[in-house]
Amino acid sequence: MKITIVGTGYVGLVTGTCFAEMGNTVTCVDIDEQKIENLKKGIIPIYEPGLEAMVKRNVVNKTLLFHTKLKDCLDNCDMAFIAVGTPMGEDGSADLQYVLQVATEIGKHMTTPLIVVDKSTVPVGTADKVKSVIDQELKSRGQKIEFHVVSNPEFLKEGDALSDFMKPDRVVVGTDNKETAEAMRRLYAPFFRSSMDRMLVMDVRSAEMTKYVANAMLATKISFMNEVSNICELVGADVNKVRIGIGSDSRIGYSFIYPGSGYGGSCFPKDVKALKKTAEQEGYDAQLLNAVEDVNDRQKYVIANKVISHYGKDLSDKTFAVWGLSFKPGTDDMREAPSIYIIKKLSALGAKIQTYDPKAIHEAQTYYLKDVKGVSYCKTKYEALQNADALLLLTEWKEFRSPDFMEIKNSLKEPIVFDGRNQFDSDRLQELGFTYYQIGKK
Ligand code: UDX
Repeated sequence: MKITIVGTGYVGLVTGTCFAEMGNTVTCVDIDEQKIENLKKGIIPIYEPGLEAMVKRNVVNKTLLFHTKLKDCLDNCDMAFIAVGTPMGEDGSADLQYVLQVATEIGKHMTTPLIVVDKSTVPVGTADKVKSVIDQELKSRGQKIEFHVVSNPEFLKEGDALSDFMKPDRVVVGTDNKETAEAMRRLYAPFFRSSMDRMLVMDVRSAEMTKYVANAMLATKISFMNEVSNICELVGADVNKVRIGIGSDSRIGYSFIYPGSGYGGSCFPKDVKALKKTAEQEGYDAQLLNAVEDVNDRQKYVIANKVISHYGKDLSDKTFAVWGLSFKPGTDDMREAPSIYIIKKLSALGAKIQTYDPKAIHEAQTYYLKDVKGVSYCKTKYEALQNADALLLLTEWKEFRSPDFMEIKNSLKEPIVFDGRNQFDSDRLQELGFTYYQIGKK
């Protein structure tokens, strides 16, 4: 198939590259000229394991092309995917200006029948808006060209994006047109080796809703466990044991019940807010979603509060080693990362921070911690420990899971660890003479 993907962010670039990998001819379009120049050379703007090699391979094979002008990429194109950003607007709703700008461009310049696919996470009713914008543009040109708007939300996770896309749990397609559903089936067939059962065709609004509900459900599981972790501490229980105790019930399951320093990233915070807003616009007060958000906001400060209750509110003579900045392992993404909130709070109380992250230091220095006082960046995790008062573990990168505890002990002024991800065995740390603070256990 001949496919155009608009937007070369996380979703757009991964989608385009994976379709190209399956033998389609894909053109990825972005208005950022520098980004497109780099992509043509195989230089990708994000860190995602395996993506650079796949981009390069498909650029060389000429199955993956890059362009800055959408109007040049619509002739004889089978499908145009809209994968531009839907940032959070001031009132918490998803800002659709970029999606609708793309729809306008498509309506202005399409010349042949087209399937327009909403890949961006967009609120219920967006496909109808996209359709009416394209209709209007065609009308004003006096043209009648057949097109269909499909909702095809993306469920990939950062850090696992390629395997999530290449081996999806399911593909959700929202359309009420049979031929369009068939074309989507053909496009995705190579991704399902054994059966197409995992391709779920439904009406457009249900497909749009599915994406928000999936993210809100996962965020709810996390906030629920974070709430439970705070209660566990108060009653003298150990949330690590409770987690295993409940996860073994197959109705509950083990995934997404890890307590921590709150969920972050580009999706959960934004999507929970947007779903709440959608409900509000319909006059419904989504109480559970409000609580999910409130618990998460509070959870980001749990580790900072443990530091404060240990040392007091004046941290001006304290230095902390911070391991991990990204919102989760496997990515350089720091959007809504708990580390930002924790470091800002400790810095505001006078503390110095020596930090190390395998991938996110550039992001921190350039954007998220740029104006935060007293933060220095280290080349290794052990360098960050030198003469620090305590270690704070904020992202569970693999390289932090089994560190040399004696080196930690010898480098810190006192052997104290604040663990925002419950990575270590508390009995072992206590045997080694550490004071070990974690989430959900006194
Ligand atoms: C998420 C969804 O998983 C994905 O399907 C959707 O397309 C985009 O949003 P992502 O944001 O990449 O993906 O990260 P994910 O791995 O889901 O983690 C989200 C956050 O939840 C992270 O901050 C993580 O640390 C936190 N988390 C996850 C927990 O605190 N506990 C858990 O048990 C699981």
